Amino acid sequence: MNTRSLFRICNKLIRPSIACTPCRHAGTYKTVKRPDPSTLKMPAPGTAPKLMEIIKEKIRLKGPLSVAEYMHIVITNPTEGYYMKKETIGESGDFITSPEISQLFGEIVAIWFYAETQKMGMGPGKPLQIVELGPGKGTLMSDVLRVLHRLGYKPNDLSLHLVEISDTMQTVQAHRLCASHKGCEVDSPHYCEGETTSGIKVYWYYDLKKIPCNFSWYIAHEFFDVLPIHKFEKTEEGWRELLIDIDENEKLYYRISAKETNNVTNLIRPPLDGGDRTELEAFHKHKVVNPLENPGASDLTADVDFSQLRVAASMTPGDENYALVVGPVTQKEFLRRTQAEARLKVLIDHAKSDEQKETLKAAYEMLIDPEKMGERFKFMAFYPSAMAAILEKYPPIGFSNLEKETK
Ligand SMILES: C[S@@+](CC[C@H](N)C(=O)[O-])C[C@H]1O[C@@H](n2cnc3c(N)ncnc32)[C@H](O)[C@@H]1O
Repeated sequence: MNTRSLFRICNKLIRPSIACTPCRHAGTYKTVKRPDPSTLKMPAPGTAPKLMEIIKEKIRLKGPLSVAEYMHIVITNPTEGYYMKKETIGESGDFITSPEISQLFGEIVAIWFYAETQKMGMGPGKPLQIVELGPGKGTLMSDVLRVLHRLGYKPNDLSLHLVEISDTMQTVQAHRLCASHKGCEVDSPHYCEGETTSGIKVYWYYDLKKIPCNFSWYIAHEFFDVLPIHKFEKTEEGWRELLIDIDENEKLYYRISAKETNNVTNLIRPPLDGGDRTELEAFHKHKVVNPLENPGASDLTADVDFSQLRVAASMTPGDENYALVVGPVTQKEFLRRTQAEARLKVLIDHAKSDEQKETLKAAYEMLIDPEKMGERFKFMAFYPSAMAAILEKYPPIGFSNLEKETK
């Protein structure tokens, strides 16, 4: 997760469903059976309208788009969306993420969760759901599972719940994590299910709210920055929204709304810190490109405003159900405080060749180097408020003490 940007609003994910919908007919209501989505065919790749055309058509029909609407189309369009049509993560893709760089990353994440869970008296032998939002290639989860197995978790204790919008990425995850997997009925809460070689059940969802409410770990790595955001600017007339429109040369461009939009009215509330963090970035082949050119070909990422995440998660202590929030701390600092270097040493000691040792060292350098990923990426943790007294006694590992971090 990286910092900057104004606010981000998670666009609600819409799942296709079969429904009998009442429709007005000659003064009465008549039930209409909608087509079964499982029988609907997507246009073959290359035959679907280009994303640029879809976006322009939308603008011509309903006027300029908000940045959030634009991002939502570019990232999630079923045939042409960025994550829908190709593998984007890794050296041959557009960007690389920490779990893909070193196994150490997922291992430290697993040990951190294990240690924090122990403070609550939970651990191996008790049921545990692991929820991951946007699991990418499934690498982080596969490293986590390896560590949990070593720590004594049995397959029957565990279940995996993955929230993934892209069928392409879901298939990659299933191949990485499962011995077998299959699609599910449309009225099931999950759209796909599978089982790991050791027998751990794995479920995929489009919608986080469909996951059963049980004791869970939640992991969201490089997830918040792909969710659609709105952009606003403070003008002499007050807050205005940045919109995307078509110019006289048929190119997309940003313009400021002439009037206050509904999003300004509904979303700009105290405590709001606009600052000068207004950039939306696009990545293609590891380079920054113009986000309005060639939509769907490059990743759109916006910088996460951690202060807004904190506000959204933590209500006033005293109310029920608020979250205790710690961080953000930089990736470099988190890995240092969680003794990642000691783990690196073990990996190096067990390496089979000098070349492998060098690769391990270089990967770790990349994770902690302030010029690379060390300072750009940050860690933040959310605890249930019921843990306040426990955390007072045993402060969160990897973060400084709770009081300082939550201010
Ligand atoms: C930047 S990748 C991060 C992958 C992985 N966590 C990692 O660190 O390697 C974002 C992931 O989130 C998924 N994704 C994007 N938008 C989503 C949404 N609205 N709901 C669920 N998953 C989404 C993408 O398909 C991809 O798997």
